[in-house]
Amino acid sequence: MKSLFKQLHKQQQKREYATVDRGHDHDFDHSRSSNHHQLHLLPCILLLMTGFVLFNPAKAQKFKGLALTPPMGWNSWNTFQTHISEDLIKKTADKLVSSGMRDAGYIYLVLDDGWMANQRDSLGFLVPDPVKFPHGIKAVIDYVHSKGLKFGLYNCAGTLTCAGYPGTRGHEYQDALRYAEWGIDYLKFDWCSSDGLNAQQAYTTMSKAIKKAGRPVLFSLCEWGSSHPWNWASNVGQLWRTTGDITAECWDCTIDKGSYSQYSPMTIMDKQAALYPFAGPGHWNDPDMLEVGNGHFTQGENRAHFSMWAMMAAPLMAGNDLSTMSPATLAILTNKNVIAIDQDSLGIQGHRKEWLPDSVEVWVKPLQNNQWAVAFLNRGSKTSQLQYTWSEKVLSDSVHHLQLDLRNSPYQIRDLWQDKTIGSTRQPLKLALPAHDILLIKLITN
Ligand code: GLA
Repeated sequence: MKSLFKQLHKQQQKREYATVDRGHDHDFDHSRSSNHHQLHLLPCILLLMTGFVLFNPAKAQKFKGLALTPPMGWNSWNTFQTHISEDLIKKTADKLVSSGMRDAGYIYLVLDDGWMANQRDSLGFLVPDPVKFPHGIKAVIDYVHSKGLKFGLYNCAGTLTCAGYPGTRGHEYQDALRYAEWGIDYLKFDWCSSDGLNAQQAYTTMSKAIKKAGRPVLFSLCEWGSSHPWNWASNVGQLWRTTGDITAECWDCTIDKGSYSQYSPMTIMDKQAALYPFAGPGHWNDPDMLEVGNGHFTQGENRAHFSMWAMMAAPLMAGNDLSTMSPATLAILTNKNVIAIDQDSLGIQGHRKEWLPDSVEVWVKPLQNNQWAVAFLNRGSKTSQLQYTWSEKVLSDSVHHLQLDLRNSPYQIRDLWQDKTIGSTRQPLKLALPAHDILLIKLITN
């Protein structure tokens, strides 16, 4: 076992220390090339290109078929940070079942930062914090599995995690083997203490280590969008964070924390809006975990935040304390109609179509069976008297070549929060939309 680790570790170091500066690697003197030379070189270039495709680090070997719809679950970080324990995780697992959240789709219970002791053991293995997890992590995982849930764990590509615990740098294959042995199903992999590392290479190394360890594990990249993972990570992992951390301190603002910023749900939504072409089954943009039920959000704000995560086909990772959750919060998190928008099998991320008066935004998301979800989001501070004339509209998604022409064919309008049909596109939509709230509808063929 030990020699296998050594061998794997050496291989990994060789790969990562190799230069990535493509600009310099492939420099040659253009001024001297002639047509003849170019023709002569063509077979070599083609061969090199084939080699690049075959050995391209971006062509990592993530497990296929995981997360065909955005993953759903619960994560400890937003509420508990490092104040986690065996007791908390077991009680959360129980509550995921008894509240109906598991059956609504919240399958992954993810233990975030702070689960490990400050030092690895003498063989370099991670050690669970003996006070927080007196029976180790495997016992907790077994418990979570016994409840019909899947288990996720956190670590970091750098030398230390963001909360200062041992990171994975230099132990990728060793940690992946240990995780597989414990039976994890999901790995969230952060980006603190990563100075000098190349994100694409570091995440590819971990992706390969997971694959080598043999257990199908969903790989969640958490490098905050810094190196534009949407351009290279679709073969490396199943989801990638697109921004810095979310906060429940406000619904529509940015909080300056000195060396970094935190973003409200609405700010994150703005940052992710343009990335809709990059999401799809098995590879999702991740605008961070939900803050539904946290902070002082009104029910309208909670509803709007949850609806917009569904419109963006975002992973739905609840981040609240399930033991104190109000019935209203539970009702939002488990709304079947809204979850169905998020989990639609087409896997298309919705996009912003237009701005209306009073800071109302219109977002559209194509769904299976030629249906479309439409969201009217009131970001303004007063109630808006909404008027929307469907018969002039064509909804379109040029990236996926889909459109819905409302000028001729009428559609039924289904209000997804009220769970009732509120009219047809034959008549203009007229209603009062409260501030910081949302109207989420589905257009259904008559
Ligand atoms: C980073 C991540 C968060 C959380 C913390 C843990 O800030 O973006 O989601 O995992 O680290 O320390």
